[in-house]
Amino acid sequence: MPRTRKDEFSLPADHHYLNCAYMTPLSRRVQAAGEAAIRRAAVPADIQTEDFFSGCDHVRELFARLINAPDPQRIAIIPSASYGLSAVARNTPMERGQNAVIVHHQFPSNVHIWRRKCETAGAELRVVRPPTDGPGCARAWNDAILEAIDGDTAVVAQGVVHWTDGTPFEVEAIASRAREVGAAFILDATQAVGAMPFDLQRVQPDALICAAYKWLTGPYSIGAAYFGSRYDDGTPLEETWMGRVGSEDFAALVEQSELYRPGALRYDMGEAANFILIPMFIEALEQLLEWGVENIQAYCRGLTRELIEEIAGERDPDGPEPVGHLFGFHVPAGVDPAELQARLCARQVFVSVRGDAIRVAPHIYNDAADIEALRAVLAECGMLASVAR
Ligand SMILES: Cc1ncc(COP(=O)(O)O)c(C=O)c1O
Repeated sequence: MPRTRKDEFSLPADHHYLNCAYMTPLSRRVQAAGEAAIRRAAVPADIQTEDFFSGCDHVRELFARLINAPDPQRIAIIPSASYGLSAVARNTPMERGQNAVIVHHQFPSNVHIWRRKCETAGAELRVVRPPTDGPGCARAWNDAILEAIDGDTAVVAQGVVHWTDGTPFEVEAIASRAREVGAAFILDATQAVGAMPFDLQRVQPDALICAAYKWLTGPYSIGAAYFGSRYDDGTPLEETWMGRVGSEDFAALVEQSELYRPGALRYDMGEAANFILIPMFIEALEQLLEWGVENIQAYCRGLTRELIEEIAGERDPDGPEPVGHLFGFHVPAGVDPAELQARLCARQVFVSVRGDAIRVAPHIYNDAADIEALRAVLAECGMLASVAR
């Protein structure tokens, strides 16, 4: 039975931090890795040529294991999801009359770039809204995404779960439909990978993008991205020297080859070797693999199951299974969101309030007392009997 890891973090004892979908707290070991990295950077003579490559390669290996990618060289180091998605969009062909399928209200890093791409190409941006509210919403929404994909679809770009309320998307079925029509299938997995099992070889996306500072439990301003063979001959956003064949030979850099290194290495950001963030990212990925992503998901499910049922009622038997690490619900008419937020703050309950919706995102450092603190505020506001998902 998975257990809480609260003691491995430095969260204040009176905080009920249920907001990993906003930003992970750093565990003590990730923090220690960062501190050691800063001390190391104070004496740069100790930083060797091979260190420019070995840290990134270690990240590739660990991230590949996390998502079950067969080849670590298909993993690039990126500074943000928007960067990774921009590199993907740049290398995704799109013509006048084609369309790009995205999901309603998905995270802006995965919207702006497709809007621009469609405008430039004269293509249609198809935004798939949930056709219904309430318990059947996930089923209907997934079906609507499948229906929106047709022979003119150039790309389908979406999340694994919806970032605002955790609606699960049946990415295997959607990927298969995209493949059928020859469209690229691009996943922003920032709100999923690290918190729930994900098998790249089953889903077979063409690219998968992940910022580190949420469920990968890493620092801000770094992330990892998988690029499939569709992107093998692409043009990266930056023309880095480290992305070139022979870059390990510093003495010969002045005459460096134009040739890119294989797989996804051309898509690494400039200064990917970041000597502070990479060691922290490695530690974060190692701890996730040790904890076990399936244990994290099972633990979160155990914590939230009852509350989700209390709020949303019985799950739709035809719909995809809800996830345990991220759920959202609307504040009912008659409850003032600002008042609710003030009450949550007063009790040190940290969740995201977005407009009239609340997003709850627990992790392995939470325990039953955190959920109880949230439940108490919702009950005080008269929300437990009446809120609709
Ligand atoms: C689904 C999703 N993708 C990406 C991000 C972060 O994007 P970026 O790394 O471009 O800031 C977030 C942040 O909330 C998110 O929820």
